[in-house]
Amino acid sequence: MKLTLLVGTMTGTAQLVAQELELVWDDGDMQVETLLMDKLDSSVFAREGVFLIVTSTYGQGDVPDNAKALYEDLKSKRPDLSRLRYGVFGLGDRTYAETFNFGGKRFDELLAEFGAERIGERHMHDASSGVLPEETALEWCQDWLAKVKQSQPA
Ligand SMILES: Cc1cc2nc3c(=O)[nH]c(=O)nc-3n(C[C@H](O)[C@H](O)[C@H](O)COP(=O)(O)O)c2cc1C
Repeated sequence: MKLTLLVGTMTGTAQLVAQELELVWDDGDMQVETLLMDKLDSSVFAREGVFLIVTSTYGQGDVPDNAKALYEDLKSKRPDLSRLRYGVFGLGDRTYAETFNFGGKRFDELLAEFGAERIGERHMHDASSGVLPEETALEWCQDWLAKVKQSQPA
């Protein structure tokens, strides 16, 4: 199975999460590739396999700067994503109560609007909890991966 991790980050935390997952997952059974969202456009979703969006939140509940071009391109091109399956590992901070984890939420809403199927619930890491996201990522993602495998199209 092929898995693409798309990373939206400002200060590198989401990238650490992706690195951790890639280290554990990239074995014989699975081919994992991590792509920073910088300079990507919506054509990235034409790749084969499943996607995991790993993104933080900035500003007034915005996607991080390196994710903006991809987000805007998706919004304007409105591709048919009905064959796409994806998950969302969001990073945020509950101190921003009004916009908690909106970065992941924004991608989730857009992908769903264009017909993609989300597997599992959206994860919402809270930086104010004191728990490092790379510590919880593996457990959440193992669970997510099991759901992906269960829902494998024939
Ligand atoms: C200036 C600034 C604005 C932020 N705005 C939000 C926000 O609106 N909502 C939220 O849930 N988290 C917000 N955060 C928290 C980050 O998303 C969180 O710390 C995340 O772990 C950073 O991940 P990164 O290093 O991958 O960018 C903000 C952080 C900073 C420094």
